[in-house]
Amino acid sequence: MSAIDPKPTASDAPAAAERAIPLSVPHLAGNEWRYVKECLDTNWVSSAGPFVTRLERLVAERAGCAHGVAAVNGTAALHTALLAAGVGADEEVLMPALTFIAPANAARYVGAWPVFIDVEPAHWQLDPSKLADFVERECVWKDRALWNRTSGRRVRAVLPVDALGHPVDADPILAIARSRDLVVIEDATESLGARYKNRPVGRLGDIGCFSLNGNKIVTSGGGGVIVTDNAAWADRARYLTTQAKDDPVEYRHAEVGFNYRLTNIQAAVGVAQLEQLDEHVRRKRRIAERYTSALAGVPGLRPMSEAPWAFSTFWLFTVLVDEREYGIDSRALLRALAASGIEARPLWEPLHASAAHRRSQSYRVEVADALYRRALSLPSSVGLEERDQERVIHAIVHAQRT
Ligand SMILES: Cc1ncc(COP(=O)(O)O)c(C=O)c1O
Repeated sequence: MSAIDPKPTASDAPAAAERAIPLSVPHLAGNEWRYVKECLDTNWVSSAGPFVTRLERLVAERAGCAHGVAAVNGTAALHTALLAAGVGADEEVLMPALTFIAPANAARYVGAWPVFIDVEPAHWQLDPSKLADFVERECVWKDRALWNRTSGRRVRAVLPVDALGHPVDADPILAIARSRDLVVIEDATESLGARYKNRPVGRLGDIGCFSLNGNKIVTSGGGGVIVTDNAAWADRARYLTTQAKDDPVEYRHAEVGFNYRLTNIQAAVGVAQLEQLDEHVRRKRRIAERYTSALAGVPGLRPMSEAPWAFSTFWLFTVLVDEREYGIDSRALLRALAASGIEARPLWEPLHASAAHRRSQSYRVEVADALYRRALSLPSSVGLEERDQERVIHAIVHAQRT
């Protein structure tokens, strides 16, 4: 063991049978220590430094975008992206009903209103046909803008999410957006490394966001990156994330900005992780293959799948539990797994049912509710060992009999 490497050795590790198996934890197996040490040795520890720039470039490259702007987390990235794209107060942002709450919160931060559209049943992403129905039946095109008939507000943007490592079906969504002059802000926070028809996520819309939170496929501890081909928006994002500073020396600010900068130390970890992204994707896909082949034949379990047009990272491997066939429901399975030291999690409370967003409109949300009741995400850490995954599989296969 080196002087700066306090990682446990194999002999320190508890036996596999008693070890807790977490849902999704970081896998720090590359240059993380070396790069963080470099920050400390060079005194570049704060919110500027070479690793921040390197991280921005690496993430932009992965997304095939011209520009990357780091932010302190994925939520801040979404907030900034909405501002950079010009979404403002009392405008509306169409987004999926089934997703983590951050995009809905980010819309409210800018004074805009989310409108929750259902997800499709096959891959659990924003449903393009319901989106089209909403735009055609519930909105009116007037004065070269789209207006929601019910609220009277202008619909300004679509915010599709690439959920669980799988890309959204972007082309029909883009077609709708282009026909109605809507900005497309892609929440790719969960899906760095995924592709749609061979196009990388993050660049499917006009501006995209990634998260480098600890549970993501690569992490900087916490962090986010905005990517876009739009140079003016990238400049605006950089300006807003750095307190809207107008002068490098004098403390002059023409606008209210945000301290959303990532530190060089965090970026150092992020750069080391980005170097391993392909390996992490490979491991996640291998985990998914093993779950799929072991669980697909279990009556009442339906593992997540990959659309023909998708390359998924399978960030969080998720199954649907049919109580009648499987014998117990998803929450009983969650408890049975917890009793064996295995961490599983349901998907997110659908946003139309969230008390935090009760004043927002929703449109024909049915699938999201069913998925919420039935889905369970299983341990999917990049470093998940085969014997631990076998323990998970064994516990699932036998849970309904206990
Ligand atoms: C869909 C989605 N959007 C946004 C975020 C926010 O990212 P962060 O946690 O880095 O703020 C997350 C999750 O973490 C997410 O899952």
